[in-house]
Amino acid sequence: MRFLITAGPTREPIDPVRYLSNRSSGKMGFALATAALARGHQVVLISGPVSIPTPEGATLVRIETAQEMHDAVAAAIHEADAAIFCAAVADYRVAEVAGEKIKKTGDTLTLTLVKNPDILGNARGAFGFTGLLVGFAAETERLAEHALEKLRRKGCDLLVANDVSRTDIGFDRDENEVELFYRDGRHESLALASKSEIAAVVIGCVERLRET
Ligand code: C5P
Repeated sequence: MRFLITAGPTREPIDPVRYLSNRSSGKMGFALATAALARGHQVVLISGPVSIPTPEGATLVRIETAQEMHDAVAAAIHEADAAIFCAAVADYRVAEVAGEKIKKTGDTLTLTLVKNPDILGNARGAFGFTGLLVGFAAETERLAEHALEKLRRKGCDLLVANDVSRTDIGFDRDENEVELFYRDGRHESLALASKSEIAAVVIGCVERLRET
């Protein structure tokens, strides 16, 4: 199969030297790419700035902003049989990026933020993607309720949800504990495991969805 995987954070510039971002390490997305490659699949990996090695055999597309990730996904998704959206995309960007470094003149500084495109949310609609669609959801409360709502709203076949209020798993950790929610209503909880083990399970689920 041909996989498209988004990974890592995005960086939204404020001025030439500053940006807004988040704590995503890219580890989960890169583990998914590694697991897919190990099973003989092709992988296009669209990633924000991360400091981990690119899995051998993946086609890496480096991006910085959410808009760039959006454009890279739009260009590549039609070649994919399955798309896994694992990136922690910044929901907002700065409305007007300053051309020069912002000086500390005032006691307060107000930045106006505008919404970024929801890349996963565009997959079924704007991009017209008909392949298998997998989303991730990082939640701090009411995990199942929010995950199911996201699964339906974004047209996913599978949604992988984790509780990011816990500090021992998730962001920048090597381990994760996730719950899988399927479009047909099935629900599976995976025990705490390394991101590589979880990635292998998720790739296996996608392979089985492809067969059905
Ligand atoms: O809505 P929320 O950000 O919680 O949804 C998470 C899922 O949507 C993840 O799969 C993430 O990669 C994707 N997403 C996206 N573009 C955005 C925001 C989230 O592709 N702008």
